[in-house]
Amino acid sequence: MRARIAVLPGDGIGPEVIAEARACLAAVAQRFGHELELTELPFGGAAIDAHRDPLPPATLAACRAADAVLLGAIGGPKWSAPDAALRPESGLLRLRKELGVYANLRPVRVHAALADASTLKPEVLAGVDLVFVRELTGGIYFGEKRRDATSASDLCEYHVEEIERIVRAAARLARERRRALTSIDKANVLETSRLWRAVTTRVMREEFPDVALEHMLVDAAAMHLIHRPRDFDVLVTENMFGDILTDEASMLAGSLGLLPSASLGEGRRGVYEPIHGSAPDIAGRGVANPCGAILSGALLLRHSLGLAREAHALERAVEAALASGARTADLCAGRPGSLGTRAMGEAVLSRLPTPG
Ligand code: IPM
Ligand code: MG
Repeated sequence: MRARIAVLPGDGIGPEVIAEARACLAAVAQRFGHELELTELPFGGAAIDAHRDPLPPATLAACRAADAVLLGAIGGPKWSAPDAALRPESGLLRLRKELGVYANLRPVRVHAALADASTLKPEVLAGVDLVFVRELTGGIYFGEKRRDATSASDLCEYHVEEIERIVRAAARLARERRRALTSIDKANVLETSRLWRAVTTRVMREEFPDVALEHMLVDAAAMHLIHRPRDFDVLVTENMFGDILTDEASMLAGSLGLLPSASLGEGRRGVYEPIHGSAPDIAGRGVANPCGAILSGALLLRHSLGLAREAHALERAVEAALASGARTADLCAGRPGSLGTRAMGEAVLSRLPTPG
């Protein structure tokens, strides 16, 4: 097949990990006989510097015209002064909103070979396989913001249709898995959460009676996630709770650097990005873990291009590299012998199957 991919490397370690993801996608395309046209575009802080706009019109247009968007990471101290007029993050939020990618899938799987990389006990982690479905284009991230000399507020607003569509996306996913959905809210305090709970209950009863539904308060969920992570299958939640809980959940896998994400809307086009940030502290040193970006490439193949076999091959190559002992510094817990970004990418590449 032929496909066009808009590549937004962004800031900090973004370009470093994206280079490895690109190399892996190119290798997969070559081995399976596909033609992927990858075009790099300015985005985030880099685009503020070059165009005074974190999401320049040409970048947005290229993303709209593409079959999928592959993104590195954005942000950094250079653009995060409290009074900054332009922020890289606002470009990311606008991109998500403009492309209508409201469903953010963040799978967390514990690789057997990495049980020792986590700070949690191996017996708690064995067999963990869960997916967060985070609502991505609503809630407090997008509500009205107000600030005066002595106060500030951020409005959290949700509409019934926004809740219905994210719950449906999560429930469809649960149907392909273990048919268990946990909906996370703060219904004991927040009105938006009470609406969330009511709509979720109705949609599940009417449309997905075959999927078990459990409601959980967000504070309890934060606790259960590290106490008994194996019990979760699909978790659905609003924008900010999902942001916070997925950073927590990444520690189940051992490192934030491992986790990919897919942001999907109604069509096939999606935005794919590792869940980690731009990590300014290690940027430019070639030590970042490229696995989250590479695995985001795998999700891109599966969800936007419909290439399940190719996605699987790439995921297997990452697993094989990890199983062979290949580790970036974030997975070494201070022990020596870690690989740099390039070498880790190479370790994955070399384990891709040859055709035939
Ligand atoms: C994420 C990030 C973003 C978010 C930031 C960079 C705006 O933390 O994708 O999880 O909060 O959504
Ligand atoms: Mg986050």
